[in-house]
Amino acid sequence: MKGIILAGGTATRLFPLTATTSKQLLPVYDRQMIFYPLNILIKARVKEILIIVAPEHSGQFLNLLGSIFEKFNIHLEFKVQKIPRGLADAFILGKNFIGKDNVVMALGDNIFEDDLSDKIRKFKSGGLVFAKKVPDPKRFGVVEIDKQGRAVSIEEKPEKPKSNFCLTGLYVYDHRVTRIARNLKPSSRGEIEITDINKKYLEMGELKVEKIRGAWLDAGTYDSLLEAGNVVREKKIYAKMDPLIDQAIGLFNEELKTIAKKRLL
Ligand code: G1P
Repeated sequence: MKGIILAGGTATRLFPLTATTSKQLLPVYDRQMIFYPLNILIKARVKEILIIVAPEHSGQFLNLLGSIFEKFNIHLEFKVQKIPRGLADAFILGKNFIGKDNVVMALGDNIFEDDLSDKIRKFKSGGLVFAKKVPDPKRFGVVEIDKQGRAVSIEEKPEKPKSNFCLTGLYVYDHRVTRIARNLKPSSRGEIEITDINKKYLEMGELKVEKIRGAWLDAGTYDSLLEAGNVVREKKIYAKMDPLIDQAIGLFNEELKTIAKKRLL
């Protein structure tokens, strides 16, 4: 299983915060946002991860993540997305990286309380998406689920949502996703939509939907960013991360302190 984190985009809803750095490098409580999706992949024992970044922030991502996981046998690659063309672009940019493997893609701004690593590890083929009941489904991709828990329909930001279940920013597919993504036509908002990939797997009868438990946030606005920090602190989500994440951050902090001391001498 390969992993992709989509951390490109201009995050206009967070201007001017994102005039100086990437949304996914903004702090959520005690660490940068990107560590939350990284945790999901690392917990699921994914060892090869591609991080897709905007050109203007590529250096900052390298400074933070360029070497901190090396000691733990986790290989990170970076790819620049020149123009944000939509979430499905991750599978076009990641085509060679994915090869013939399965792939789990996490949006860089999604924070989950639930531990979904088992479900990711057990994935065999087709598509797997994660749904959460929300009060305002219009803002998201909406999935209608039947009594047996199967997906019936999927719509991106519908005017009249058919259910209260939205699709969260975590997607698992087999390698056919690269071909499906390549054949997508841009939507009315001019983007190639991940919702259209999910619709394709649904049509093929190969899309599985899992409902998630606990808090879920996409930290894309001032309010949800603040809420994400508060929820992480209250529910101690930082303490439930894979120990490897904290070890890597700990070592990095030591390195930074050593460098800072040398500068003072
Ligand atoms: C994207 C997806 C949407 C999904 C959401 C989750 O929306 O298009 O289906 O529900 O992420 O965060 P966007 O953040 O691009 O508006």
